[in-house]
Amino acid sequence: MSARFEITVEDKDAQFQCREEQRLLHAMQAQGLAPIPVGCKGGGCGICRVQIIQGEYEIRKMNRDHVTEEDERKGIVLSCRVIPKSNLSLRLAPKPKASNESAA
Ligand code: FES
Repeated sequence: MSARFEITVEDKDAQFQCREEQRLLHAMQAQGLAPIPVGCKGGGCGICRVQIIQGEYEIRKMNRDHVTEEDERKGIVLSCRVIPKSNLSLRLAPKPKASNESAA
């Protein structure tokens, strides 16, 4: 039987459970919750960025357009590309608007 971890989204005062082989965003959605914004669910849009404050996790390949190496060192990840290895505490980490992105 696989382990279940408690995931706490601190700035939304929300919690959900995630199995050890499950991606954070997918687990959240499977429980009908939405503290983290959901987009492509495949690492392509960057909307699901979070910063992990506490806990251990494993990362699948992430697009450097959405998470730079410096971001990653600070614990910023795409929640659709992360698998927990312990209970996690995190907060949302919206991507700063790039100056060359249009609002349209
Ligand atoms: S939902 Fe698009 S990158 Fe995670």
